[in-house]
Amino acid sequence: MKIAMVGSGYVGLVSGACFADFGHDVVCIDKDQSKIDRLHDGIMPIYEPGLAELVGANVRAGRLTFTTSLAEGIKDADAIFIAVGTPSRRGDGHADLTFVYAVAKEIGENLANDAVVVTKSTVPVGTGDEVERILKDSGTSHKFSVVSNPEFLREGAAIGDFKRPDRIVIGAEDDFGREVMSAVYRPLFLNESPILFTGRRTSELIKYAANAFLATKITFINEMADLCEKVGADVQDVSRGIGMDGRIGAKFLHAGPGYGGSCFPKDTLALLKTAEDYDSPTRIVEAVVKVNDTRKRAMGRKVLDALGGADKARGKKVALLGLTFKPNTDDMRDSPAIAVAQTLTDAGVEVAAFDPEGMELAAPLMPEVTMVEEPYAAIKDADAIAIVTEWDAFRALDLGRVKELAKAPVLVDLRNIYRPDEVRAAGFEYSSIGRN
Ligand code: UGA
Repeated sequence: MKIAMVGSGYVGLVSGACFADFGHDVVCIDKDQSKIDRLHDGIMPIYEPGLAELVGANVRAGRLTFTTSLAEGIKDADAIFIAVGTPSRRGDGHADLTFVYAVAKEIGENLANDAVVVTKSTVPVGTGDEVERILKDSGTSHKFSVVSNPEFLREGAAIGDFKRPDRIVIGAEDDFGREVMSAVYRPLFLNESPILFTGRRTSELIKYAANAFLATKITFINEMADLCEKVGADVQDVSRGIGMDGRIGAKFLHAGPGYGGSCFPKDTLALLKTAEDYDSPTRIVEAVVKVNDTRKRAMGRKVLDALGGADKARGKKVALLGLTFKPNTDDMRDSPAIAVAQTLTDAGVEVAAFDPEGMELAAPLMPEVTMVEEPYAAIKDADAIAIVTEWDAFRALDLGRVKELAKAPVLVDLRNIYRPDEVRAAGFEYSSIGRN
């Protein structure tokens, strides 16, 4: 099959490389000439484990190519994926569909054969209908079908998620769409990955419902963690205790500083907007968004508490370990670290930070924070050390060395990656999430 992927960002590039690895002939298209030039040189626009190797192998095998020309890229394609960004629209939180619709128009104007047009971008219910209208209005004489095929890739684990999915969701309105998509996903189909065929609007909603549900699960356990701290319970055991119930499930019950990233914050807001437009409020999601927003600054206050309170914090130094919204990515979007750093610097605290991949993108977001080259440089002379992201590099710090370098042995572990008894036995004052 020949596949065109319009948009060579995170989703487009990972999906394109994985489809090529399945044996399809894939062209990744992007308007950004410098991005395409760098891809030709084997330089990835994002940090994602295994991606450079996968792209390189498929380029060498001749199955993966790059171009800036949409007309050229979609020629002969059986399936044309739209994988461009749908950021939150400034001011109202609606998903901004400008890029999706512009691509749809360009596809219509350049369609040179029958093809299925697939929205992979996260788009609100009804977007497929509008894409179909735009294609019809373009006056194309070729047969086309518009299909929804949401992605469920986690940053940092995207290739595994693509190749071994929990499910594939395909929202199609006709046989042409269903047949082409079956052929596209045939390698996974043979592998017995579950494929759910449904209507296009349903498929669009599944994506938002999935992310909103996961955000709810995280927020629920975060509130339980706060309660654990008050009643003297242990949230790790609460997670285990409820997660062993198959109806609840153990995943996404890890309490922390609040969810961030490019998906949950944006998609929960967009779902609220859809619900509002259709006069069908989703009050649980409303609460989740509010609770998560306030949590991030509360985490900064938790670090201030470890310094003896906001009034004693001025002039003290904190080492922040981890800045990205989660490990194995350089993504800083809506990372809790931004609010934590802001709360600290607002209180007059001097902050030194280290992150294995995120410092370049973090620096402009936290201008008052000093970025350093390695964790121990941040720890030197610190009055408290706060772990904000659970990178593996922070899981086995040399506690003896930490104690020697820091001004005070105070550790605030916002990801619960240490055992309280061990850290306390090493002479630290230790606080974590939901188990004090
Ligand atoms: C999320 C979904 O997990 C993917 O299925 C989806 O495809 C993707 O959004 C998307 O819509 O594109 P991602 O944003 O990469 O993926 O990251 P997650 O691993 O889901 O983590 C999101 C946030 O939740 C992070 O800040 C993480 O630290 C936090 N989290 C996650 C917790 O605090 N506790 C948990 O138990 C799990």
